[in-house]
Amino acid sequence: MILQGKHILIGISGGIAAYKIPELIRQLRKAGAEVQVTTTKNALEFVTSLTLQTVSGHKVYSDVFAAINEHSTEHISLPDWADMMLIAPATANVLCKMAHGIADDALTTTFAAMRKPVLIAPAMNTNMYESPATKQAIQQLSQWDNITMLDAASGELACGTSGKGRMQEIDVLLAAAQYVLTPKTLDGKRVLITAGPTHEAIDPVRYITNASTGKMGYAIASACLRRGAQVTLVSGPSQISMKAWEAFAPLTIVPVTSAMDMYNATLHSFDQSDISILCAAVADFTPQTQASQKIKKEKGQTTMTLEMTITKDIAASLGEIKRKDQKLVGFALETHDELSNAQRKLQTKNLDMIVLNSLQDKGAGFGTDTNKVTFVYPNGTTKNLPLISKEEVADEIINNILE
Ligand code: C5P
Repeated sequence: MILQGKHILIGISGGIAAYKIPELIRQLRKAGAEVQVTTTKNALEFVTSLTLQTVSGHKVYSDVFAAINEHSTEHISLPDWADMMLIAPATANVLCKMAHGIADDALTTTFAAMRKPVLIAPAMNTNMYESPATKQAIQQLSQWDNITMLDAASGELACGTSGKGRMQEIDVLLAAAQYVLTPKTLDGKRVLITAGPTHEAIDPVRYITNASTGKMGYAIASACLRRGAQVTLVSGPSQISMKAWEAFAPLTIVPVTSAMDMYNATLHSFDQSDISILCAAVADFTPQTQASQKIKKEKGQTTMTLEMTITKDIAASLGEIKRKDQKLVGFALETHDELSNAQRKLQTKNLDMIVLNSLQDKGAGFGTDTNKVTFVYPNGTTKNLPLISKEEVADEIINNILE
């Protein structure tokens, strides 16, 4: 959503990871961005100008003196056009040149004129990455106000060895581009989020759970990271990966299984948090005892009774110890008497806002990419949102907390 309509200028230098950039361009355009490309001469040894032109839909700027250029001043007009620049892969050579203001080709001249946000993804052999010159260049560039420097990733390198020096993967570059383009409205804030279902064990192989996938909570975590928050995500079992964000953003994931684990982990981080958003579908009941061996059915047995006890209500516990400077937001998933149930929960759990989901709405609830919610406030007022993506719901929730 954040990439929609954005102008992204990609600078490619001469490293083998350049072969991944056409796919990155394709994905940026799929997300609604417009992309233009500038390269060093060496980059075109790894990826052709024709490929880049085809996937970007624009002529590639790689020769400062080429007569075929419609304008001879792309190094000025491209930075003017762009909302951000992404230099990937950034080789040792290009990093060292940029740090010292050397502008002797299309990419470095364009960078020299770029005053808007720049995201840099270094990629090279480990020894080159760890050379004093490269380290110094990275350190210097990292201090510039408009630069976000990614770490090189570790793993297999093109030279046949293994170590630090790989370019971050495309999903990391996409998340980092979103991060760079988002105003930092949660800068310095610590946000605690619970997400996903819980598993309440019956015996070593069976458990009770619910249909939550974690999508809504993970979307909130990403939205908070984009806005510059430090995020602790206490998550029940979920298939969703946050690896792209973990590569560069201040995210701590605390994986938990049961409602009790979630209670302990959430309470542990609450004191440090400015905003807590409780999105998890926590089990309300858990088996009173957990059998140490798999429960067997007996011959002739027709029923089985499971004794359950009530779990601790995390939201209510946090509501009791909440300080005035802390915000606490809960969710309510209801099937009937939605509004009155939500209002009662808001009061009893001492929440600052409740996000009401109705399972009666099509496209809302578990597992979908969309949601239709109503915000319920302590003064009794409500705000209905239309059916929108969970990403948009996440942003609306944060906007409402910040109001
Ligand atoms: O009472 P109910 O489960 O409907 O309330 C939903 C809200 O309370 C959600 O924000 C949910 O994450 C939270 N909750 C909790 N601990 C529980 C049960 C619910 O934090 N044991």
